[in-house]
Amino acid sequence: MNKIRTFAFAATLGFTAYCTSACAQDVTLPTPTKNETAGSLTKALNDRHSTRQFTDRQLTDQTLSDLLWAADGVNRPDGKRTAPSAMNRQDVTIYVGKDDGTFRYDAAANKLIKIGSSDLRIAAADRNKFIKTAPIVLVIASNNKLTGGNKAISGLNVGAVMQNVYLFCAANGLSTVCCYAGDAPAEMQKFLGIKEDMVPLVYMPVGY
Ligand SMILES: Cc1cc2nc3c(=O)[nH]c(=O)nc-3n(C[C@H](O)[C@H](O)[C@H](O)COP(=O)(O)O)c2cc1C
Repeated sequence: MNKIRTFAFAATLGFTAYCTSACAQDVTLPTPTKNETAGSLTKALNDRHSTRQFTDRQLTDQTLSDLLWAADGVNRPDGKRTAPSAMNRQDVTIYVGKDDGTFRYDAAANKLIKIGSSDLRIAAADRNKFIKTAPIVLVIASNNKLTGGNKAISGLNVGAVMQNVYLFCAANGLSTVCCYAGDAPAEMQKFLGIKEDMVPLVYMPVGY
């Protein structure tokens, strides 16, 4: 009995230590700039294009915060988002790969939650090698459970976020391209530690 108690105590201590160190690496993002973003929508539409080459220039945390808010941030007090989703299912999750690890964007908290230290850019570069040359990559996934398994709805909802990313990049001198994640998501799901309901649909490297 004493042995069981000692083991339980040690396990609790270990888990607390793990949580403390993992949470310490989460990133509280700066408040998104929103209305200070320069440029009109029609100019951004005129400038929107795909780019597959990136310089070494890094995004600041402010630019990353603005980008993620534009992509699928919370834009109303009731928690609704910059991107529409069918029946407001909010099935889309954005994962962010940077040189210091892999994160999940928590839109409500305006935070990047660290989920690992491996390089998501390399994991996403299988079909499109240029992805690993970008300072960051966004993996945009849809939770099929929330869309009732309707793949078209998942694709449409992810597509709305994808176009938000393109337009933010066009308006802010950033480069990006939408890359199809492919028909075999298992490896990426394993990398991200997500269940098979959560399906990564597109990868978007972003840089300058
Ligand atoms: C759903 C979708 C998937 C795409 N997948 C890839 C891809 O895997 N690799 C790539 O280099 N470009 C990909 N693209 C980018 C298209 O090739 C690009 O949008 C198209 O050539 C038109 O160029 P533009 O975006 O500059 O107008 C994809 C675009 C979309 C919308």
